[in-house]
Amino acid sequence: MTTPATLLVTQLDLDAIATFDGRVAVIVSNDGKLNAPAQRLNKLTKGAVKRFIESEAFGALSEGSAQELAFPVGLKAESVLIVKLQRTAHTQLARKAGAAIGGALNKKDVLVLSGSVKRASDVALGALLKAYAFTDHKSEGPAVDVPTVTFAVTKPEEIDAEAVTALAEGVFFTRDLVSEPANVLTTTEFANRLKDLEALGVDVEVLEEADLEALGMRTLLAVGQGSRSPSKVVVMQWKGGQDESPLALVGKGVVFDTGGISIKPAGGMEDMTMDMGGAGVVSGVMKSLALRKAPANVVGLVGIVENMPDGNATRPGDVIKSMKGDTVEIINTDAEGRMVLCDVMWYTQERFAPSGMIDLATLTGAIIVGLGHENAGVFSNNDAFCNAFLKSAATESEGAWRMPLGQAYDDQLKSHIADMKNVGTRAGGSITAAQYLQRFVKEGTPWIHLDIAGVASVKAPTDLAPKGATGWGVLALNRLIDDLAAAGEA
Ligand code: BES
Ligand code: MN
Ligand code: ZN
Repeated sequence: MTTPATLLVTQLDLDAIATFDGRVAVIVSNDGKLNAPAQRLNKLTKGAVKRFIESEAFGALSEGSAQELAFPVGLKAESVLIVKLQRTAHTQLARKAGAAIGGALNKKDVLVLSGSVKRASDVALGALLKAYAFTDHKSEGPAVDVPTVTFAVTKPEEIDAEAVTALAEGVFFTRDLVSEPANVLTTTEFANRLKDLEALGVDVEVLEEADLEALGMRTLLAVGQGSRSPSKVVVMQWKGGQDESPLALVGKGVVFDTGGISIKPAGGMEDMTMDMGGAGVVSGVMKSLALRKAPANVVGLVGIVENMPDGNATRPGDVIKSMKGDTVEIINTDAEGRMVLCDVMWYTQERFAPSGMIDLATLTGAIIVGLGHENAGVFSNNDAFCNAFLKSAATESEGAWRMPLGQAYDDQLKSHIADMKNVGTRAGGSITAAQYLQRFVKEGTPWIHLDIAGVASVKAPTDLAPKGATGWGVLALNRLIDDLAAAGEA
């Protein structure tokens, strides 16, 4: 498990700067004017801070970036990080500046002199999020001790360290789940880790294969039937609201996707350990909600299966009856995510009659062709609900782009022998996948489908994460839930 740095917020004490053991980060605005802590640092370092700020290098530094001055005289600290940021910087830049601090954390404690920067909470969140490394399987893992990030400010009450930490813990939970290899994160291990959320006040139920069989979740079971690991559905409930009906989050949790009998090519197949990314985001959101005691009712349901080839695996051509009662002709066993989701979505609506339902899935390679790694695909049957989500995603700088739905795409799913096929043609592959899901959305349920195949895990560092699992969506969904709660809708 990866624990975020410990975030402390203290009253600024200029006299404590000289003896701080670790690193010191100081925020300086674009005009280079020194605030009180920066002046003290400058004096202690015999003018080193000012020399840098008056240099061309400071002018060339982009806002939200930082320059390290190593082993400065006059300080116990081993470096000073000069972070360029305007007092009124918006959320995204404040987080980027924080990431510059977090990226340089290197397991050393850091003292942050953020002056009168308005979005200091965002600086803190950026620092925590960027300082992530998944080292559980490195024999020479880094020191187990978690570094401390101390914000020394004149108004400590302006940073809610608990709320910031709750978000970071949720994102780290998602990233850890996505990073785990499939021999470690088996279906059983995944369910066990979710069961642990009970300690935080989340109600957690694990539905086993016999339960799923009794419920008629045949399409979900068909995906997992070639695996030695049992299929499961985990139901998480956070009841922080009044008596309003809950918002539902549904996640695809394929712990490994070989493609099944329609097996994938070998190259890059190892990346399919992240095919539980949708379930990972749902889990991370539930964790954050519980940690920050969010005033909202939210249910999170995840379908946890493994897609393997086997003598007992589902074949192309098989016809399976879903929980809804519609029959599906399996053309391609690699189009398994929709088979998992359709049953869990149906069960979610039958049991909870949610005020809205959002499913998340690493569903199609086609969404990567369309949107790359910058935006998740957003599909919806409800403009108001969809726009509310797009707004929260924009505020959190989590890329999200709406895609179309329509009858002509749906027509691709017609089958000769069953109610539908599980795939259309290559053209518009992400859209036909969404059409398939929409067939399992009840009339009147506001619904959003997020295809996160391109954004759940990436090969290069992003603003707020090293390369690998991003935790995309945890922040946007937390914000959406708060916005809906404020409007009395969740
Ligand atoms: N898990 C994959 C989608 C995926 C691809 C996720 C790349 C992350 C990165 C999904 O189950 C899948 O295999 N989709 C097929 C659908 C096709 C058979 C219609 C695809 O995208 O090729
Ligand atoms: Mn697949
Ligand atoms: Zn898959």
